[in-house]
Amino acid sequence: MSDKTYKIAVIPGDGTGPEVTDEGLKVLKAAAEKYSFGIETETFDWGGERYLATGNVLPDDASETLKKFDAVYLGAIGHPDVKPGILEKGILLKLRFDLDQYINLRPVKLYPGVETPLAGKTPEDIDYVVVRENTGGIYTGIGGITMKGTKDEVAVQSMVYNRAQVERCLRYAFECAGKRHTKENPWRGMSQKDIDAGKYSQLTLCGKTNVLTYVFDLWERTFLELAKEYPNVKTDYCHVDATCMWMVKNPEWFDVIVTCNIFGDIITDLGAITQGGMGIAAGGNINPNGVSMFEPIGGSAPKYTGMGVINPLAAISSAAMMLDFLGETEAAKAIDASVAFVTGNKLKSMAAGKMGYSTSEVGDLAVEQL
Ligand code: IPM
Ligand code: MN
Repeated sequence: MSDKTYKIAVIPGDGTGPEVTDEGLKVLKAAAEKYSFGIETETFDWGGERYLATGNVLPDDASETLKKFDAVYLGAIGHPDVKPGILEKGILLKLRFDLDQYINLRPVKLYPGVETPLAGKTPEDIDYVVVRENTGGIYTGIGGITMKGTKDEVAVQSMVYNRAQVERCLRYAFECAGKRHTKENPWRGMSQKDIDAGKYSQLTLCGKTNVLTYVFDLWERTFLELAKEYPNVKTDYCHVDATCMWMVKNPEWFDVIVTCNIFGDIITDLGAITQGGMGIAAGGNINPNGVSMFEPIGGSAPKYTGMGVINPLAAISSAAMMLDFLGETEAAKAIDASVAFVTGNKLKSMAAGKMGYSTSEVGDLAVEQL
């Protein structure tokens, strides 16, 4: 409880974005009442419709405007009539860069009652977090094309990292791992030997040291150096291709995974499907010292727009992540518990149109449980 009022910028965005953010805000407001803090929202119409009407993806002062808020709550960006890349780069990536949201935090958690494609795996097995570097690497946009259209055409897009970027991301990941467990309650995968050595969480660096011998040399050296400052965290390393295998075969091997931007993009979609898909997977674009942005990781799902059939639980979970980030830990935990109650006792499926409830009924169920 804090009696604070948080200013939240809401970008409902395209397609089903507005439907799911409505439910997230409903739950957020209920949590605010129960845990005595305030929520003040302002809504921005940024997205595909506005772009088609005005030719602008964002107003010039968009990032400056958002810096006045405590957090940003995003629905979805993507419109069937807009060429791929324009809105993604012009809105989502631009805001991540401008607001220096250098971490993309993606919990991979199988909630009770949710079907996973991984045979025999339970909520105990699928419960880890991916810390994805979010503003560097291939996404920096360094590169170009020359001799376009000829048979000698060359295209380059470089994976660029500097030490400072790598270090701040790894440091966040070590801190994140350290906070997930305690000495009294170590991560389930910890051996007695590790526990005796004072380790209670595990951080896996996911890289490609056998081929990307420059970039991942930097990552690995920095990782091992920082590890000395975090004796409570056991370190582990896994190539990205192998990580994909183990995420499917032995997800229980992971506690926290840290990786570069593009690998993180890929493995978190894999992670999302193992936890039941886009209806339930949430993420945060985090600037630990600034304005962070929380979103359900699914897209705008144009074909379901306006039908009231889309699953809002991912948006509700991302609202919980936002509260956790703002320091309202109790409220965040309570929302998470209501999501688990709804998946475990109410919904027939996580898929759009198959939940057995409408979008707003699912929001109501989460509020009731709260
Ligand atoms: C994500 C998305 C974005 C990314 C796209 C929409 C630019 O896939 O948030 O994972 O690649 O980061
Ligand atoms: Mn992605």
